[in-house]
Amino acid sequence: MGKVITIDHPLIQHKLTLIRDKNTGSKDFRDLVKEVSLLMGYEVTRDLPLEEIEIETPVCTTKSKVISGKKLGIIPILRAGLGMVDGILQLIPAAKVGHVGLYRDPETLEPVEYYCKLPSDVEERDLIVLDPMLATGGSANAAIQFLKNRGATNIKLVCLIASPEGVKVIQKHHDDVDIYVASIDEKLNDHAYIVPGLGDAGDRLFGTK
Ligand code: URA
Repeated sequence: MGKVITIDHPLIQHKLTLIRDKNTGSKDFRDLVKEVSLLMGYEVTRDLPLEEIEIETPVCTTKSKVISGKKLGIIPILRAGLGMVDGILQLIPAAKVGHVGLYRDPETLEPVEYYCKLPSDVEERDLIVLDPMLATGGSANAAIQFLKNRGATNIKLVCLIASPEGVKVIQKHHDDVDIYVASIDEKLNDHAYIVPGLGDAGDRLFGTK
């Protein structure tokens, strides 16, 4: 079973409260989502392997640790996942960024991929999938499956807020995927919004509605 890691650092919880507040406008919302993503990225990258290299300090030669050449990929699910990219990229600037866009077929209700542009060596990379709101879990579940179909074997899912229902869906279909969240909220409402949640993350990021 994949782990669910709730990152309850005070800075993250404080900023998440500001993000939830309906009076927070798009600019602040964007900045806060970026900041929380960066802070979450600290925990998400905790298990990156290190190697020792030799360097010279002004005083002597020494061995010191650097992140080994692990190849990483950041995969935002369009469109709200875009808001989390810059924060994570700030921590791991060498990562490549792939994009996955999905919509729900109104008849079959199945997620359909309408856009997918991935690093050419995606199957060699450890992937960090970004989806701020894990609501029904439908998009994240489908996106992870699309990535696995293209050969990806090592995937983490990072969300700001998850519903218990969404977590269950990912755990059921992808028991190899760890889920990082800032909060698991109470439930989904009849419109598949997370309660209390933060509303529509895409609309609030991009000022649409
Ligand atoms: N997507 C959102 O942006 N918000 C929700 O509450 C659920 C899905």
